[in-house]
Formats: sequence, C-alpha cells, structure tokens
Amino acid sequence: MKTVTVLGGSGFVGSSLISQLDQAGYHVQVLTRRREQAKHLILLPHVTVTECDIHDETALKNAVSGSDVVINLIGILHQTGKDGFDQMHHQLPKRLAALCVALGIPRLLHMSALQAAADAPSAYLRSKAAGEAAVLSHAPQLQVTVFKPSVIFGTHDQFINMFAKLIKLMPVLALAMPNAKFQPIWVEDVSTAFVNAIAQTNTYGKVYELGGPHILTLKQIIQQVMDTIGVHRPIIGLNQTLSMLQGAVMECLPIQLMSRDNVKSMLVDNVCQQPIANELCILPTDMAAVIPAYLVQQNPRGAYDHFRAAAGRAINARR
Ligand SMILES: NC(=O)c1ccc[n+]([C@@H]2O[C@H](COP(=O)([O-])OP(=O)(O)OC[C@H]3O[C@@H](n4cnc5c(N)ncnc54)[C@H](OP(=O)(O)O)[C@@H]3O)[C@@H](O)[C@H]2O)c1
Repeated sequence: MKTVTVLGGSGFVGSSLISQLDQAGYHVQVLTRRREQAKHLILLPHVTVTECDIHDETALKNAVSGSDVVINLIGILHQTGKDGFDQMHHQLPKRLAALCVALGIPRLLHMSALQAAADAPSAYLRSKAAGEAAVLSHAPQLQVTVFKPSVIFGTHDQFINMFAKLIKLMPVLALAMPNAKFQPIWVEDVSTAFVNAIAQTNTYGKVYELGGPHILTLKQIIQQVMDTIGVHRPIIGLNQTLSMLQGAVMECLPIQLMSRDNVKSMLVDNVCQQPIANELCILPTDMAAVIPAYLVQQNPRGAYDHFRAAAGRAINARR
C-alpha cells in the first residue's frame, strides 16, 4: 500500500481529500500542528495522524521520510506573526520540494490558488505564485503537479457558510467588490482531481486550474445563498475605495473575516482560462445542487425552509 503524506490535511479541503485517499486504498499520514485538530480523521481505517512542527527541518524530514507521495495543502488567508504569506506559501513548499528530492520521494502534489501570479495585486496571490515556481523548479526530477482552484464550497467551507450566517444576522449587507467574478468548485471535485492525478503520469510537471461549471459574481453567489436559505436582505455593493475601507475596519476585529489583501485578490476575476483538463477525469458539480444540503438541512426545521419560502411564509432568520 502506497503512503501519502498530507500537510494541511486537517482543514476543509484536507478532510475531504483524506477521506477520498483512504477510500482509494492509500495509507495516509496527516501532519498537523495539533492532533486534536485532526481527530475526526483518526477513525478512518488507513489514516494516521502525526504531530509535526513543519518549521523544524529535522521534524519535517523525519515525518515525510518513507512517503511515496507528498501533498501540500497548507495555506492561510490572513497573516499572523511569523506565519506570513511568504513563509507559508513560498518558503515551506520550497523546503518541502527540496526535501522530497533529497529523500528520493518521487511525487509532490501542491495546492496553489487561481490567479496566483508574480504581478498579482494581492500579497496572498503573489506568495502562491512564488510557491508554484519553487516546486516546479524541481521538475522533472520531482514529479510535481500544481492545482489552482477558484473558491471552493462544501459542507464545512468558510465562504458560503460565513455569508449564510451574515445574511441571517444583518438587516442589510454591505458587500465589498460585488462584481468580482468567481467560478466556485465543489470540494469533492477538487479532492477527486488530486486523487486521480496521483497515478496519472501525464499530469507530471503540469499546472491545473480548477473551476466549477458556472461563473458568478460575488453578488450572484450571495443571492444564491439567500434563495437557498430563504432569507433575503438588501445588498449594498461597495466600490473599490469603500471595499478597502471595509477591509481595513475588519482587520481590527478579533475574528478574521476579511482584509485589504482579500479585497485586492478580488481585483482580478477568479475564473479559469480553460475548461478542466480531461486527464483529471472530473465533471464539476453545480453549487446549486450541493449547498442546500448543508445550508438548509442543518436542523430539522431547516429541512422545510424551501417549502416555507415557496409558500411565502416567514423564516426565522435567527434560529
Ligand atoms: N478554501 C478555498 O476556497 C480555497 C481556494 C483556493 C485555494 N485554496 C488553498 O487550498 C488549501 C487548503 O485550503 P482550506 O480551505 O482547506 O484551508 P484550511 O481549512 O484553513 O486548512 C489549512 C490547513 O493548513 C494548516 N495550517 C494553517 N496555518 C498553518 C500554520 N501557520 N502552520 C502550519 N500549518 C498551518 C492547517 O493544518 P493544522 O491546523 O492541522 O496544522 C490546516 O489544516 C490552502 O493552501 C488554500 O490556500 C483554498
């Protein structure tokens, strides 16, 4: 049984991917800062969870040693202390790729982001581009595949769930960058692309954009969330200056919702340049087919919200 070591496997994408890798018959080792974070994965039959300080070279070397495949999913949206974008998105993949080469680990799958580019307007996207370049510099000696998804939705996502909560809480929505375009892709489709790519030799050395079947503006996505939960609020679209101001104010909040750098990311449309490559063997799923299952049916009453909305009956927004 081949061993796949995953960094960042305890998170939203990781949890889906680990489950698919487990089902595909791989032995999966998840590296995490805190075992507690990954306890939901321990129950899977072929998964082991290992605590590892990825900043410690020796610890990382010992942890990945003996792997057949390494997958790097580590990513942050907000910089905190020493764990800045350059450290997490550039230096870490650079060290990891060099370590794979040194240890004779043949295969590395790396998660980047759509529109990552050296001249991108946001530090997040620029650091992701630097990470891509660092891992690809080891090809063909290292069999590298890079994935660049648009925004990802799924049961435990931050994006759709956060907006669903805000819609229920706020009487009016002041929306930054309402016309920014996205191509939302389902987390299970992203995971399937990774799993399918592992053994496909024609994915070596390649970079893949991943997007769903529809391009939507941020405002259209919010409207779709409103329709799904049956709660409608007026949306006030903010221009770029006000969006940046909102980002600056939100940076001061104790919870990290949005930053000026996030606003800058939305200055470029988050859409793919071409359809998903055939060799990944995925047919992306429509967001409308998936989000009701986790936005509406979170409690017994929620299961009937569609019918209440259709009948024109009020839905308790704060339940
Ligand atoms: N979600 C999206 O819409 C989206 C879109 C495009 C690209 N991506 C990329 O996809 C990857 C996975 O995203 P996700 O949504 O699954 O993120 P997530 O839920 O936040 O998970 C990220 C993982 O990274 C690890 N991590 C975070 N900060 C770390 C730090 N300072 N030191 C060490 N490890 C750290 C965490 O592992 P532990 O806590 O277990 O250590 C966590 O499991 C990221 O690279 C992200 O940039 C995501």
